[in-house]
Amino acid sequence: MVERTLSIIKPDATRRNICGKIIAMFETAGLRVVAQKRLHLSRSQAEQFYAVHKERPFFGELCDFMCSGPVVVQVLEGKDAINLNREIMGATNPVEAKPGTIRKELAVSFTENSVHGSDGPDTAREEIAFFFSGTEIVG
Ligand code: RTP
Ligand code: MG
Repeated sequence: MVERTLSIIKPDATRRNICGKIIAMFETAGLRVVAQKRLHLSRSQAEQFYAVHKERPFFGELCDFMCSGPVVVQVLEGKDAINLNREIMGATNPVEAKPGTIRKELAVSFTENSVHGSDGPDTAREEIAFFFSGTEIVG
C-alpha cells in the first residue's frame, strides 16, 4: 500500500552537511520526498513533538539535541513507506543498526542518530500534520 511518513534529518546531520547523502539513501531505496522544509525547532516544539517520551530519562537530552541546530522535516511517500523508512534508518542505537542503514553508516551516537521516522500509521498522520498543511504536500 502506498503510504506517507514523516522523516526528520536531525541536527547532527545538518551540522555535518550530509542531508543530500541521507536523502539519496531514501530515494535509492524507493521513497519519494513529497514535502520538505528546513527549520530550527524551539525547545517547546521539540518537547511537543516528542511528548510521548516525556517521562523517559532521556527526554531532556533528546529535546536539547533536537533544538541544538536546524533540522530538515520531510514527508516521504512510497509502498509501505512507514516500515521501509524505518528499515532504511536502522536501529535506534547505531551500534545495533545493520550495515548499509543510515544510522549504522552516518549516526554519531544513540542521541545523535541522524534521522527520525514515524513508527505507525496514526503517528505518521499526526506527525505530518504537526509540520505540514495539505497544500504543502505535493506528490
Ligand atoms: P525516533 O523517534 O527519533 O525516530 O527514534 P526511534 O523511534 O528509533 O526511537 P524512540 O524510542 O522513539 O526514541 C526517540 C529518540 O530518543 C533517543 N533515545 N535515547 N538513551 C536511551 O535509552 C534512548 N532511547 C531513545 C534516541 O535518540 C531516539 O531516536
Ligand atoms: Mg520514535
